[in-house]
Amino acid sequence: MAGKTHSSYEAIASSALPPQAENREVPRKKAIASDWRIICDDVAIGLGAIDNATVDLTITSPPYYRHRDYGVEGQIGAEPHIRAYVDQFRRVFSELLRVTTPVGTCFVVIGDTYRHQELLLIPHRLALLAAECGWIVRNDIIWSKLDPPPESPRNRWRTGHEHILFLTKNRSRYKFNADSIRVPYAQATIKRWGNGQVYGGQKSSQRQLPKDSRMRHGKSFRLNPNGCIPTDVWTLPAGDSSVRHYATFPERLIQPIVEVCSEPGDLVLDPFAGSGTTCRVAILMGRRTIGIELNPEYAELARKQLKELSTRTD
Ligand SMILES: C[S@@+](CC[C@H](N)C(=O)[O-])C[C@H]1O[C@@H](n2cnc3c(N)ncnc32)[C@H](O)[C@@H]1O
Repeated sequence: MAGKTHSSYEAIASSALPPQAENREVPRKKAIASDWRIICDDVAIGLGAIDNATVDLTITSPPYYRHRDYGVEGQIGAEPHIRAYVDQFRRVFSELLRVTTPVGTCFVVIGDTYRHQELLLIPHRLALLAAECGWIVRNDIIWSKLDPPPESPRNRWRTGHEHILFLTKNRSRYKFNADSIRVPYAQATIKRWGNGQVYGGQKSSQRQLPKDSRMRHGKSFRLNPNGCIPTDVWTLPAGDSSVRHYATFPERLIQPIVEVCSEPGDLVLDPFAGSGTTCRVAILMGRRTIGIELNPEYAELARKQLKELSTRTD
């Protein structure tokens, strides 16, 4: 960037930038009964009870294929064939699109499954299906786990990540408060790009047909003094939950999403609510929330946690 030196960016990085998302405290807010609702039913029936274009943000983690038994009839994830599993999401994605506001977004946390030594590519299948149902796939975020579950394959690499599909209803107009999640540039980025280097540079200008260049010809790259948007690889531990549910996702995964893609008072949905992690974080951050959960025991657990938030005294 013209006129800016490497060291002036370092000064900005160390002083004025917001803290890393993962170090942020969730602003605490009390819940009131009208802020939340847990529907104990099948996902299709639960979604059918929600009005058109009322949900601002969905954050969910559906049952992964053949990972766990949630102990309830009608559960998704136990289908004998992968196609039957994926097919169930056609209705889910279509219903989610219907209930989402025009500027709303949806995040689907999903892991993959090996069967007969073969990786089934479930996140990719679900991303393609979501697109078929009318969603725009904006990111395939990788959640790199600091503490992946133990496994001991002998002839492939261990699995250390899950996917977070970031889906939007509109191609470009949706809630995304970029400034709320900016982080300092990496030192290597500042060194390489911080002095206004020309993107494409000499190599680009020497091309016979500059239009053929994959890089935009001679574009200088400006570092934003407020920092950059984090990348699509999120490194976080998996387990920071003590609730009685096998597959809770960590609150720290949810907080930055709620912060960037919704505003106080917005409605946040989790159609596979489990113990209610999304709903809890939504309430703590001043949003309203609906959770749908088939297993009555988990639905009750989610309700209990939300009730506790309303009686908390801090
Ligand atoms: C991966 S877990 C979600 C865990 C949640 N993110 C949490 O933090 O507790 C998936 C949940 O989907 C529920 N589920 C399975 N089949 C369902 C269905 N057909 N309709 C609604 N919920 C279902 C399971 O009981 C399970 O609690």
